[in-house]
Amino acid sequence: MDRKHKNLKIKKDPRVFIIKDNLKKVKRIFAVVSGKGGVGKSSVSSLLSLILKKQGYKVGLLDLDFQGPTCHIILNRKNEMPNEKYGIVPPRINGIRFFSIVYFSKNEPLALRGVEISDMIIEALTIIKWGDLDYLVIDFPPGLSDEILDLIRFVKRMEVLIVTTPSILALETIEKTIRLLKNKIKILGLIENMKISNKDNVKNLAKKFSIKYLGFIPFDFNFENSINNHKLLKTDFAKKLEGIVKSLK
Ligand SMILES: Nc1ncnc2c1ncn2[C@@H]1O[C@H](COP(=O)(O)OP(=O)(O)OP(=O)(O)O)[C@@H](O)[C@H]1O
Ligand SMILES: [Mg+2]
Repeated sequence: MDRKHKNLKIKKDPRVFIIKDNLKKVKRIFAVVSGKGGVGKSSVSSLLSLILKKQGYKVGLLDLDFQGPTCHIILNRKNEMPNEKYGIVPPRINGIRFFSIVYFSKNEPLALRGVEISDMIIEALTIIKWGDLDYLVIDFPPGLSDEILDLIRFVKRMEVLIVTTPSILALETIEKTIRLLKNKIKILGLIENMKISNKDNVKNLAKKFSIKYLGFIPFDFNFENSINNHKLLKTDFAKKLEGIVKSLK
């Protein structure tokens, strides 16, 4: 490469503009994240979408966990498939525009490395046509790597909900999640899930970083049994989350 070309800097990835255009009719984008696995991100994302839909909003849900997608199970997807004529139009499941990699991976395990995950995410954001939505909820995989870093780059107006349990093991990682995201993207607050005692450690963590403690969801013994049987919105989980949703508007 000669010197002239070497010094030529591409100011913006052109896909930034396509992604922006695809999301221009989406009023708000909620990102449900946690550095820690198994804390309830997919449960919160799916129920948050169902609650907003029940309240009359136009809602989309993007399951960005390409290696361990689960929102389709919580939403009880049967055999709906996207319409692929002009980009990908996600089908409606329970009235929610829903996209997940399971449409294409058919429950097979995907062996993806970092760069491949990044490419798939950017590709997905470039081709999925969300249309007109009040809310798009994005369910993230556990961890703080490619998915969240790419999304921060490409979808700057995302608003982040951080989910944690009160476990001291979870909080060790959540502190890092907050430090990674703070001042880079808008954090709406912390949701404490699977609360089983009166400990205030999640509240205290929120205070330490001056972010909002949005509320707690108790450990709900009926939750697991309600997946797949249309009673999800009647669970204590859903009732508590409904209260939290009010504070997001
Ligand atoms: N409040 C709750 N009460 C009881 N069980 C719950 C609650 N929240 C989540 N669960 C259960 O905990 C497990 C983990 O939940 P979920 O899959 O939503 O977590 P996740 O953070 O998305 O996990 P991953 O990091 O693997 O993506 C599931 O079995 C789910 O049914
Ligand atoms: Mg999950």
